[in-house]
Amino acid sequence: MRIDILTLFPEMFESPLSHSILKRAQQQNIVQIALSNIRDFAPDRYHKVDDAPYGGGAGMVMMCQPVFDCLEHIRPQHIEPGKVILMCPQGMPLTQDKATELAKENRLILIAGRYEGFDERIRTGLNAEAISIGDYVLSGGELAAMVVIDAVVRLLDGALGDDMSAHDESFTHGLLEYPHYTRPEEYRQMKVPPILLSGNHAKIAEWRNRQRIERTQRQRPDLWAKFLERKNEQQDNKNNNE
Ligand code: ADE
Repeated sequence: MRIDILTLFPEMFESPLSHSILKRAQQQNIVQIALSNIRDFAPDRYHKVDDAPYGGGAGMVMMCQPVFDCLEHIRPQHIEPGKVILMCPQGMPLTQDKATELAKENRLILIAGRYEGFDERIRTGLNAEAISIGDYVLSGGELAAMVVIDAVVRLLDGALGDDMSAHDESFTHGLLEYPHYTRPEEYRQMKVPPILLSGNHAKIAEWRNRQRIERTQRQRPDLWAKFLERKNEQQDNKNNNE
């Protein structure tokens, strides 16, 4: 996969991209990540990339031209034109399903904005999909773009290495993950649940499954409702096929 990032602050990406899984995935050529500075495409010597909003109001709006020019500059750098994603709080929420869908693309182009937002013609003219990482407003799209990149790259084949797996994680089956414990068996009078020390793998699997269900019901009733809905759908499909 190739990921292009269009931003006014390429330096913000340096540290997250040069550690741990993201670093290794690039070294192993699982992903190639390219940073472009939108300001390099500003029209004047003041490097202006934003302007006041038509209709008035507070703040500044990111102008079309530097973003369009930047995108047109990087587009031919790879055989695939790529899927364009605009980071903004008005976008569709990032979920594990969305990350899984994005992980199937060969090229992603993420645009991170600053200021009050983008000129709407950036979204419409570039046929971009807007994505939000949650119902809160960040100072810019950079941190949000990093979240998308991390969630997507770890799903790419080989990115997690042999000893790790994205398979059992929270959300992969619509439920939260079960609690984990490691040595020692007792810490400050807090004990590891005895079932985990029993060596009975069937019983452990049953306990973990119960924990996932209880956690999801307690902490995320919204996810639990969706899980039940999916399960009922699957049951209906099965019945219809029989
Ligand atoms: N830019 C500012 N806030 C954001 C959010 N919540 N998600 C994505 N991009 C953003």
